[in-house]
Amino acid sequence: MVGANAHDILRLGGSMYQGYHKLYGDNFVACGKVLAAEPQVMDRALTGPQGRGPHLHGYYLRPQELPTAHDVASSLPVGSSTFLLNLPNTGNPKEAHAMIRSLLFKYLLDEKAITRGSASDDYMAQLLSDFKAGYHAAKAAGNNSWDTSHLPELVLRWTHYALLGMKLEGDDFLNVWALYLFPIQGFPPKGVEHYFRFAGTKSVTRPDGKQVDFQELRATVTTLYESAPALAAWEDSDGLTRADFCRAFCPVMAIAAIQGPLSGALGILRGDWHGEIPKDFEVPYGDRDKLRLVILETQRIRPSVFGSTAEPLNDYAVTIGGERVVFPRGTPLILNYRTAGSREAHWPEPRDFDPYGRAEQLWGPSSSFWCFNSAGDRTHGDRVNGRICPGRDLGLAFLIDLLDATAPTKST
Ligand code: HEM
Repeated sequence: MVGANAHDILRLGGSMYQGYHKLYGDNFVACGKVLAAEPQVMDRALTGPQGRGPHLHGYYLRPQELPTAHDVASSLPVGSSTFLLNLPNTGNPKEAHAMIRSLLFKYLLDEKAITRGSASDDYMAQLLSDFKAGYHAAKAAGNNSWDTSHLPELVLRWTHYALLGMKLEGDDFLNVWALYLFPIQGFPPKGVEHYFRFAGTKSVTRPDGKQVDFQELRATVTTLYESAPALAAWEDSDGLTRADFCRAFCPVMAIAAIQGPLSGALGILRGDWHGEIPKDFEVPYGDRDKLRLVILETQRIRPSVFGSTAEPLNDYAVTIGGERVVFPRGTPLILNYRTAGSREAHWPEPRDFDPYGRAEQLWGPSSSFWCFNSAGDRTHGDRVNGRICPGRDLGLAFLIDLLDATAPTKST
């Protein structure tokens, strides 16, 4: 089969999404998974129910590292999976996927989280203003790598404050940093790597040099989350005990909540001034609607999350090497956002940076934008039991604030 010689390579990383299509075409097979960038295949998968399986991109997850229900007071059977990204979404609100998502929306992704995480909040305004000062000072001094360590810190503080209401200090900060980010090393990021089959999980180094046992570190951070202000009014009758929810949330933080915004932030600011935003593009500072389009256009060119993996519940067909190939249900399917975002058939003149010309495709009722694991606003069922990224609006609001906060000042 086309691309089968890539079958055994586990660490394909980003090249699997963007480099291999030059050799094998838009759709091919690698790592025992079908990679597809065909609009119809993507649309169908993203608006229907999805089985999952132990997959994340080309990687296989370590089942023993994934969270399960521990407490008899939780309504899920003890030992059953609570790893949200892995659970199938069948549309049944009583099943684990919809139940955990509804808890996320109730406690961590409510209106208060959006307000808390925005530049109108005093703590956030201070974080953004400190970032801005350091960012411009570094640029003025010709230091283009300052943001690669300071952005992760900002994102870590923001996610914990917006979602959990926590201001990270001292050991708490060092532990969270070590669990999710340290050492900063590209893809896969540290926090994500612990969940992959090949990953070593024995010990982790904190930024202060202290060696900590990975399992203990994760347990410490999970316990820390149990005291989060956002969970103060927790009710076990909603389905999970607070402890079981925090166990489930820790890998969500590692894999989703930090990495999506961090990669998006690096995409807009990284390196020489504006990363994916062309240098001669006039950034519409102060106009949130336009800034959102600018950020979405950077996501089209270089999505924060290159793709997502499903185990389709029905047989499906994909064109490979000019032939229609049918795969049996359950064959892992990676939806390749990165290649799909650069296809002429779907995005005319894909190399042009054109946020306003593509406005309707990027955002709003007729959007079919995929990079948040949906076709625009369309997902299976509704926002709660569907598969659309539940942190989309929060993540975008942060990236808008961040880009806006880097507006040049008179002195820069
Ligand atoms: C710019 C920022 C973000 C981007 C681009 C993004 C993108 C995505 C994508 C592509 C997926 C599907 C991944 C997969 O299935 O393999 C996803 C899932 C998810 N995201 Fe985000 N995300 C962002 C921010 C956030 C934030 C701030 C949170 C906070 C809680 C979050 C929580 C989640 C969760 C829980 C899932 C799994 C949903 C499910 O499977 O039902 N994301 N996100």
